[in-house]
Amino acid sequence: MRRYLIAGNWKMFTTASEGIDLVQQLQSGLAKDPRDVDVLVAPPFTALQAVGEALSGSGIALAAQNMYWEREGAFTGETSPVMLKDVGCTHVILGHSERRQHFGETDDGVGRKTRSAIDNGLLPVVCVGELLAERESDRTLEVVERQVERAIRDVTPDEAARLVIAYEPVWAIGTGLAATPEQAQEIHVSIRKLVARSHGDVVAAETRILYGGSVKPSNATTLMSQPDIDGALVGGACLKAESFLQIIAFDKG
Ligand code: PGA
Repeated sequence: MRRYLIAGNWKMFTTASEGIDLVQQLQSGLAKDPRDVDVLVAPPFTALQAVGEALSGSGIALAAQNMYWEREGAFTGETSPVMLKDVGCTHVILGHSERRQHFGETDDGVGRKTRSAIDNGLLPVVCVGELLAERESDRTLEVVERQVERAIRDVTPDEAARLVIAYEPVWAIGTGLAATPEQAQEIHVSIRKLVARSHGDVVAAETRILYGGSVKPSNATTLMSQPDIDGALVGGACLKAESFLQIIAFDKG
């Protein structure tokens, strides 16, 4: 049975002290109104340690927003999975479209990072999604399948079952224009079929597939009521405790 996962991607926002403040508000909100979903936050690197300490014992998981695939070495400016584990990360977001767009990340690099994250005890949240021009030219499935295929190629069935895939149409990120629940469900089904083709139906039924792109309190319930949407990767709306808590409480409608 898949559990819902609501993940907050803080992007390049918040200092360490602002991050502590935000997670303290999340913790007190969840203490008053506990929800039966997994919650994850992904602060910027500079806030990971402080936020990780503030989250200790809270049940909220900690993710980094990126990593390099080597464990150590002469790679100026990069951060390794070992270092992320050391500051308390359990997860890592990989292949976010902003990294693909602005920092030249490739499908192959995301595949290598996925393998390395697993080898070093981190659970990857692999992001995939098409550009507007790709959707408009009917290439959505081709693009998403290529991205997913490369990410899952080198993982075993057991690992694929624990993997989190986030479908984030690039045109929906930060635009206020989310995919409709039907548009998202259609792609989630295709992603699950692709996982089933490589790793079997039992595995595919376990893999969590999140939707991301302008998720907010007003659309969270309908998105998450789709059978193959197992949670959300939230950007803008996760930076305020109130709206992130409302999304976490999506089952209230
Ligand atoms: P958004 O970002 O919720 O601000 O659209 C989502 C993401 O980039 O993960």
